[in-house]
Amino acid sequence: MEAAYDDMSRQAIEQADAGTIFVLGVESSCDETAASVVARDTDGTVRVLSSIIASQHKAHAPYGGVVPEIAARAHMQKIEGLIADAMTQAEMDYAGLNAVAATAGPGLIGGVITGLMVAKGLSLSLNVPLIGVNHLEGHALSPRLSEPCDFPYLLLLVSGGHTQLLSVKGLGDYERLGSTVDDAAGEAFDKTAKIMSLGFPGGPALERTAKAGDPNAIKLPRPFVGKPHADFSFAGLKTASRRAFDAFENPSEQNKADLAASFQLAVTDVIIDRTRNAMGQFQSQDEEKRLVVAGGVAANSSIRAGLEALCVDEGFQLFAPPLKYCTDNAAMIALAGAERFAQGQIDQLDVKARPRWPLDDESASVRPASGSGRKGPKS
Ligand code: KG4
Ligand code: ZN
Repeated sequence: MEAAYDDMSRQAIEQADAGTIFVLGVESSCDETAASVVARDTDGTVRVLSSIIASQHKAHAPYGGVVPEIAARAHMQKIEGLIADAMTQAEMDYAGLNAVAATAGPGLIGGVITGLMVAKGLSLSLNVPLIGVNHLEGHALSPRLSEPCDFPYLLLLVSGGHTQLLSVKGLGDYERLGSTVDDAAGEAFDKTAKIMSLGFPGGPALERTAKAGDPNAIKLPRPFVGKPHADFSFAGLKTASRRAFDAFENPSEQNKADLAASFQLAVTDVIIDRTRNAMGQFQSQDEEKRLVVAGGVAANSSIRAGLEALCVDEGFQLFAPPLKYCTDNAAMIALAGAERFAQGQIDQLDVKARPRWPLDDESASVRPASGSGRKGPKS
């Protein structure tokens, strides 16, 4: 079977050289089940033909966080229907696909296995190559879904599972400049919102609450601010917020708003300070320097405004893709698959699902002191 798969793959890659390639992408690494079809022309132009996302937020809300077993079951229930819908919306025949790409990690392993197994089945039955995509590579390439964005660029990835600053030099060429040593930024938002019973997911709820608050009302720490490196830490800030909340005897709506606003400003200050340091480390031959922000936390208007001002200060151009491509989606997985496929990089059918999979193997191994967010699922 392996030899037949290799022959088929070689032919598929040769044929694809001649024209546009169509890739189905599947994403199931956390609490979003998603499927998408992306077309990539030979000149590298990308078109998203469909991108469908089924969020599991409602299923996890009663628990105030993502429950892995619930997530895996929900992926299993939804995935096939979503793939069919993505194909229909793209007006594609399965026979028109050149490859199938699925997230192979990092993430909650039950979910990753579900998506990857379905993709393997499709690859086998359609006789097209399979690409096991690193979810972080999907995020790293995501700005290219909405507009051309040349390499190299500095990437700030801030989501519920990751907080990293990466120099993206080319496909498969990433250097981590900084990452969180404890919680991811979104995780800190979610946990702080939970302390105040603001609802799940906590980030958007906390931002709404903060609107009525005074960001200078409560003094909170800014971990690592002023330090020369580009790593992040949020655990101390979360603990300080809990203490501040516990100090209110009967927290009023105004108390909550003040704490939310103070917390949001502290996170913004940390992110801006760390990104400024990474900008100093980032090396680009280009005259034009680019900062890309991705991940769900990029939706936060205080953080966006801070990044805009920082880019003006430091002479960077800011790329903030539309939110639908910032948060978890399958279009970014299809795109990463298409880019890999265009370079002849495909996987064997025994490619493994990986709970942990750093994007930059090299710098991850020389910088073991740094974590990369939520310990476990998405680091
Ligand atoms: O990228 P994403 O959809 O999924 C992960 O890969 O984690 O990011 C979700 C995270 C959650 O922690 C959520 O609370 C946070 O992004 N988030 C926000 C906002 N919208 C989403 N955090 C702060 N402010 C927001 N407006
Ligand atoms: Zn993600």
